[in-house]
Amino acid sequence: MKNIKTQVGIIGAGPAGLTLAIWLKKNGIDSVILERKSREYIENRTRAGLLEQNTVDIFKSLGVADRLIEKGLEHHGVFLSFNGKRVRVPFDELTGGRKITVYGQQEVIKDLVADWISSGGKIYFEAQAERIEDFETNNPKIKFIHEEEEGMIDCDFVIGCDGFHGIGRKTLPKESYTEYSHCYPFSWLGILAHVAPSSEELIYAYHENGFALSSLRSENISRLYLQVDNNDSLENWSDERIWEELAIRLGTEGWELKTGPIFEKSITPMRGFMIDNLQFGRLFLAGDSAHIVPPTGGKGLNLAVADVKHLVDGLLDFYKNNSMETLNGYTETALKRIWRAQDFSNFMTALFHKQEEHGSFQYSMQAAKFDYIAISKAYATTIAENYVGLPFEVFE
Ligand code: APR
Ligand code: PHB
Repeated sequence: MKNIKTQVGIIGAGPAGLTLAIWLKKNGIDSVILERKSREYIENRTRAGLLEQNTVDIFKSLGVADRLIEKGLEHHGVFLSFNGKRVRVPFDELTGGRKITVYGQQEVIKDLVADWISSGGKIYFEAQAERIEDFETNNPKIKFIHEEEEGMIDCDFVIGCDGFHGIGRKTLPKESYTEYSHCYPFSWLGILAHVAPSSEELIYAYHENGFALSSLRSENISRLYLQVDNNDSLENWSDERIWEELAIRLGTEGWELKTGPIFEKSITPMRGFMIDNLQFGRLFLAGDSAHIVPPTGGKGLNLAVADVKHLVDGLLDFYKNNSMETLNGYTETALKRIWRAQDFSNFMTALFHKQEEHGSFQYSMQAAKFDYIAISKAYATTIAENYVGLPFEVFE
């Protein structure tokens, strides 16, 4: 049996687990990561790709942003469209120069894994955490299986960065939290295509046929999404139908959608989920293990990294000052941003998705909100500051 001793045992090598491990190491704190999938798998898993200014600043300060600086695409505004009418929300003017960067999550993962491994960090791939034990004591343990052998991590803290389906959240005593869950009655069909983006900035569009989003990955790769029914399937969506529908939903006068070969297609349901407690004793949760937001605000990865920032603050306080005070305040601090992100993601989802028919009360409320963006700097600022991400200070 492998028996590993470390300070912090981390389950999951997503953005949360890897960022946490690297940040701790920079501060002389030792950790070990368990990841149930292979390195190849996690480096190629297609996910969203929108990084807030906070997230980019953190990656820069950790020295893991060389490729991100070279290949990431900085955006200073976003287009919002309603029935073919498009308005631009300028971040520079409304947020004092804050911006977002478009860079695929799997590229982030490649950068973080490479940094962790090259700095001598320990990570076990294809290692499944099975149980977390003794987390109400000062010496919690993670039991895991690796290469058909049982292993144990013996540590000071266990951090569940193991995503929505992980064991971290399931291990928290049920009575220690309230669960909130909201399922949306639609899904996103996402594609990647070999074609230059039709718009340099993202376009979020409401159309009576449903929502569409135009995003990108590089000068010659576009990333686009369509709202589809929850019970729809990819068989119903030929490449031709996808491009036709995108052109209709994103269309506006004088603009043309460029099309090209689609090399990836998938359908993802939309969900809001969270629990209101991220700690029990020496077990903490960060990222998707504790919360899921619908992707309309691009917040998932950024929330995971923000959780990690607060956890690192707490762990540094513990290892430097032998104090649990900051760690014990982790839930309260992190929840403020998480609820903010739930609200903003829900707002963007409700505004741009087709729900009820034209002429309904609900539809008219959506139209009224959209019209307000174009005439009110205050309203546009609300959207801009949430979209680029509020600075850490406002929640602390
Ligand atoms: N043992 C080991 N690893 C596990 C286990 C387990 N029992 N359960 C889950 N994992 C791993 C998963 O294989 C995954 O690689 O935990 C990792 C969790 O990573 P993410 O799902 O990427 O979660 P997180 O780091 O919180 O990042 C959140 O990812 O899902 C997107 O949109 C989301 O952008 C957001 C970001
Ligand atoms: C993406 O590029 O994948 C993306 C961008 C913005 C979102 C969601 C996904 O809101």
